[in-house]
Amino acid sequence: MSGLPMTVSDPALPARVRIHEVGARDGLQNEKTAVPTDVKAEFVRRLAAAGLTTIEATSFVHPKWVPQLADAEELFPRVRDLPVRLPVLVPNERGLDRALALGAREVAVFASATESFAKANLNRTVDEALAMFEPTVTRAIESGLKVRGYLSMCFGDPWEGAVPVEQVVRVTKALADMGCDELSLGDTIGVATPGHVQALLTALNEAGVPTSRIAVHFHDTYGQALSNTLAALRHGVTTVDASAGGLGGCPYAKSATGNLATEDLVWMLDGLGIETGVDLAALTATSVWMAEQLGRPSPSRTVRALSHKE
Ligand code: HMG
Ligand code: MG
Repeated sequence: MSGLPMTVSDPALPARVRIHEVGARDGLQNEKTAVPTDVKAEFVRRLAAAGLTTIEATSFVHPKWVPQLADAEELFPRVRDLPVRLPVLVPNERGLDRALALGAREVAVFASATESFAKANLNRTVDEALAMFEPTVTRAIESGLKVRGYLSMCFGDPWEGAVPVEQVVRVTKALADMGCDELSLGDTIGVATPGHVQALLTALNEAGVPTSRIAVHFHDTYGQALSNTLAALRHGVTTVDASAGGLGGCPYAKSATGNLATEDLVWMLDGLGIETGVDLAALTATSVWMAEQLGRPSPSRTVRALSHKE
């Protein structure tokens, strides 16, 4: 078996997709064992060498809330000169100050569509969290940074169950109106299905949010992340979040498992003839190396298939 799928293009899909790689942030934030800063820096360098052009590096959040990323000040200077985009998460102005002090050029704030997750993740109501982001986003833009707005629990919430589309649209619009240039729709616990994805994207378009500003962020808990991604591509979305080797989860949403694995995504996109610039063999080798560092195999089906030794 060759290391690449046969290519059969579909003219209804975009010609190129930008992968927003979140393994070093969303992936590692959930690891129980401490990952040395050197290993994280090497991981980011290898991801860049494999052709990923946007690599979320770390978070400037409260170190007690996410101990695994408490080394952000040590890590960021080691990777910041790589010729790639290196967004970092900032929840508030304190986080922004820390990111600016180190020369970050892109930041992301992260809102929730539900009250329960806003409380668990940010210690705020949804509107209090938006009020915390407003000055953060304004100052980031004034400082010349690009700002992404994440929205969690877009398709379901572990405490509240189903999340009405209108609720998601309201908070997404608030982030868009604040000035976030990209809006990433998070299926934090991986419960979305393709029709739901299509319905949310349509509702956002009807509310005035163009598809060109939307990214999708699927966790793969129920094995739906790739089908949901295909639904989003059919709708015209061209930015897809994924995590090398399928690392991931969220420390404040217990039912969240890893993100869509970047290798699984690249296998599908390569097969569809959609350009990503990613070298699948180099990426797989990176995830195999990272799995060795973490002491357990990657959950990505593609990583397993490509690294299987007879
Ligand atoms: P809080 O306890 O309400 O904080 O936490 P506070 O505002 O009351 O401040 C308390 C103290 O923390 C103060 O210090 C602040 O200076 C300090 P004191 O005056 O008492 O000495 N502090 C900070 N220190 C360092 N860096 C900071 C910072 N902010 C305040 N940035 C807070 C509120 C937002 C800080 C906290 O809840 C937090 O850090 N949460 C982050 C949680 C997180 O990172 N979750 C994972 C990322 S989200 C995710 O994974 C979902 C996503 O992948 C999409 C999806 O899948 O859905 C993006
Ligand atoms: Mg996530």
